Amino acid sequence: MRILSGMRPTGRFHLGNYLGAAKNWVDLQSQYECFYFVADYHALTTEPDGRKAEDKVFDLTADLIAVGIDPKRSVLYLQSKVPEVAELTLLLSMVTPLSWVQRVPTFKQMAKQHPDNVNLGLFSYPILQGADILIVKGAGVPVGKDQLAHLELVREVARRFNRTYRPIFPEPRALLTETPLIKGTDGKQRMSKTVGNIVGVTDDPEVIRKQVLSMVTDIKRPRRTDPGHPRLCNVCGFYKYFFDDWQHYWDLCRRAQIGCYDKKKLLAERMIELFRPFREVRAELTPDAVNSILDEGSARAQDVARQTLREARAAVGLPPYLDR
Ligand code: TRP
Repeated sequence: MRILSGMRPTGRFHLGNYLGAAKNWVDLQSQYECFYFVADYHALTTEPDGRKAEDKVFDLTADLIAVGIDPKRSVLYLQSKVPEVAELTLLLSMVTPLSWVQRVPTFKQMAKQHPDNVNLGLFSYPILQGADILIVKGAGVPVGKDQLAHLELVREVARRFNRTYRPIFPEPRALLTETPLIKGTDGKQRMSKTVGNIVGVTDDPEVIRKQVLSMVTDIKRPRRTDPGHPRLCNVCGFYKYFFDDWQHYWDLCRRAQIGCYDKKKLLAERMIELFRPFREVRAELTPDAVNSILDEGSARAQDVARQTLREARAAVGLPPYLDR
């Protein structure tokens, strides 16, 4: 099974990206052939100036390498360096009924977030995502829960293409983590840069400390001496991922033997310690090193992409390329 996934370069990587998706990306490397990319075409749906994404592309790529994506084992690339993806998007769009895309809930949310830039690219975002996956014939797609609607659409489009022409694409499946939805420091919404409720992963310890200490805890525990409700507390929720003996801390909390502030301090220090190796790798990566990794990965991805596109063009009944 071939694995593919991508992330938009929207700024520094956070716990939601890590626990909800990238950790899974890293683990899958030991068993499968993996393709991972930075989705800079997708970023254009909300920010038309590609130059503004440049630093973010570096940040995200460096973060992915820092948390364990190994460019020797996986193909790590930049989406726009494989422009074949754009041609496949076009071919897929011809077999995609408009009504299928209109159903996708993320379009409405995105349009609300960017009311003065509701463009066709934003609308067809999931078709571009489908082309990302199908161009390498990805069969397993590790993503967060928010991407399930897109994956469902991509499966339908693949099926439709296969039926209309001939079966060349697998129907990709979403691979969810055990922790597909990570809430932000507000304890309410999904952790996201746009909401501003993130906790960093490769950021400096002071940044992580500040973010963790700002977390909303158990609202049903007004005083330190009141018993806590770990199940309702987002901070206690995070203990499950960071402490093997999390149950011990949950007990202390229930018996009011540890306060919310102390729990946050402990959590912050634990995260800072666990993420230390990530920070160290990150600090060594220069823009030049990252660029050459992306160039190399993109060339490998492009070889695969051209092969698929040759097949897709032939299936559709278009003439072959002249020069390839
Ligand atoms: N839409 C994904 C997100 O917002 C990013 C993405 C783009 C993606 N293309 C993809 C994820 C292909 C998986 C497969 O997170």
